[in-house]
Amino acid sequence: MIPVKPHIAKRAHVHSLAHYEGLYRESIANPAGFWSTQAEALTWFHPPESVHQARIEEGEIAWFSGGKLNACYNCVDRHAETQPDKVAIVWAANEPGEYRKITYAELAREVGRMANVLKSHGVRRGDRVAIYLPMIPEVAFAMLACARIGAVHSVVFAGFSAEALRERILDADCAVVLTADEGLRGPKRIPLKETVDDAVEGLSVVRSVLVAKRTGAEVAMTPGRDYWLAEELAKERATCPVEWMDAEDPLFVLYTSGSTGKPKGVLHTTGGYMVYTAFTHRHVFDIHDDDVYFCAADAGWITGHSYIVYGPLANGTTTVMFESVPNYPDCGRYWQVVDDLEVSVFYTAPTAIRAVMRAGDEFVTRASRKSLRILGTVGEPINPEVWTWYHDVVGNGQAAVIDTWWQTETGGIMIAPLPGATPAKPGSATLPMFGIRPVLVDDEGTEIKGNGVSGNLCLAGSWPGQSRTILGDHQRFRSTYFTRFPGYYFTGDGCRRDEDGYYWITGRVDDVINVAGHRLGTAEIESALVAHEAAAEAAVVGFPHEIKGTGIYAFVIIRDDFSAEDPKALVGALRDQVRRVISPIATPDAIQIVSGLPKTRSGKIMRRILRQIAAGKTDDFGDISTLADPTIVEALIASSER
Ligand code: PRX
Repeated sequence: MIPVKPHIAKRAHVHSLAHYEGLYRESIANPAGFWSTQAEALTWFHPPESVHQARIEEGEIAWFSGGKLNACYNCVDRHAETQPDKVAIVWAANEPGEYRKITYAELAREVGRMANVLKSHGVRRGDRVAIYLPMIPEVAFAMLACARIGAVHSVVFAGFSAEALRERILDADCAVVLTADEGLRGPKRIPLKETVDDAVEGLSVVRSVLVAKRTGAEVAMTPGRDYWLAEELAKERATCPVEWMDAEDPLFVLYTSGSTGKPKGVLHTTGGYMVYTAFTHRHVFDIHDDDVYFCAADAGWITGHSYIVYGPLANGTTTVMFESVPNYPDCGRYWQVVDDLEVSVFYTAPTAIRAVMRAGDEFVTRASRKSLRILGTVGEPINPEVWTWYHDVVGNGQAAVIDTWWQTETGGIMIAPLPGATPAKPGSATLPMFGIRPVLVDDEGTEIKGNGVSGNLCLAGSWPGQSRTILGDHQRFRSTYFTRFPGYYFTGDGCRRDEDGYYWITGRVDDVINVAGHRLGTAEIESALVAHEAAAEAAVVGFPHEIKGTGIYAFVIIRDDFSAEDPKALVGALRDQVRRVISPIATPDAIQIVSGLPKTRSGKIMRRILRQIAAGKTDDFGDISTLADPTIVEALIASSER
């Protein structure tokens, strides 16, 4: 147990474990009172008339009904009035030492102009807008501009392929797409406009493609469809009235992977999401007015939405937006930014910490890092030794390490220590946030009470930041989250609650894998592989990977009528196939060509056998008597890539 540091507790909003426990009890005993108080931190055009209604089994959830507000007003206007000269966003560009500071007053003008551009391209309240931008300030301007006029943004991570982007544009019916000529990630240039061209080719739904100039690369522009964003902005006024939205009006949709092939458009609404992200940002990162807060995620993921844009800006914080990668120009880049900007709160994924840790301490120690107070992590379990390195070396033993567990669907942080209150245990996300009730259930759905137990992690009741539906498919929302364990929201994660009541996430219990902090469905990768002419069948599993946490291992059966002259080239072609259909982030680390898969007599693939082979743990397979052909296991081991 690592005790709370007195210098952190001294100025913290929640300053002791007893303080946390008291507030937690209150939040559970009287959620309506608790959350209506938290909602007062926002500015409402019309206050909510009720706090909360839910019929959990139907997945029908509402918070702050009757209330009217605007997310952009809360993130921008009210701070532009009270603290116009405070820096809202510091953009850390790809090249070291290159920064752009945007004050709240400037942010208001940038967002107003962007909102007018969207309107001039026909975007109205309720319309969907696709944002496929690199980490440049325009990504935040565009998100906030959508919120301002009541449009629903769908940010698509700019590493996704044309096919993946096209699928998302179609699913959400986006008439306008924002992109850039190219993106920069360290030494690499990413041809974003070219990808958009492929994605929207022949799509009649897309009216306008607005193109930001990042590198000045020459790109093809289709007249009547493609517009340079800067030219469009130059035509518009910097002020644009806000649309007052109902608390339950959609704010955005964000696609994420599940256990079936098709990505899900997770939908978040306005009031509850804003209350929850502002509240959790303030408490988990113990935010004060003088903080410089740096979340190194990408805006294309939920962490970027909740904890680069909405949470921090709602709190009037200075938020850093990082365009580059942790190893450019070398593995000291994060700490250089920390020193340059005097960052006090830093938040990243364990995979990034593992990557820079491997490069050696000298990349860290050459920076002073004296401004750091809080170090957060998110996205996957953090190994205790990495946690300890983060704490001892990066934080000099002086900063609090905050392991935050949550999901795209939860909108905000669910389980995490509070820096001034919760003693830490390396590798544990520790205790639930206020108002959050984690429940462990066995496979039959019976609650496992007490401490020192493990089970499927569910959440009882609701919280304001909870997703409300899957765009266009409420039935899928219900069946994915609310039917396996009736009465609860099922997270898909396994979890242990230790003797002290601390939570330890053990990883996914479904067919989802967390690869380098990115969430991928194994079924999605399998579909991409079998779409290749050579592949008859594929099975994908995760295996422990030193840097990525989980690596991707694919077993592929080649069609009888396909003659692979060069097996190496075939494996290369299959890898390219996944890159092309999904994204480079989904590229298998290993592909094993096999003649058969371990199937039960009823035809179900026994994935645990594949997981063991992928992990190189082949000494004991347990009971394999239900396999249709047990000899397949030996054959798989013999041709294994491990
Ligand atoms: O398995 C859990 C893992 O990431 C999943 C959610 O992924 P996504 O929706 O992409 O959101 C990631 C950023 C919030 C979870 O089901 N996960 C997230 N945070 C942690 C984690 N696993 C262990 N420890 C964490 N702190």
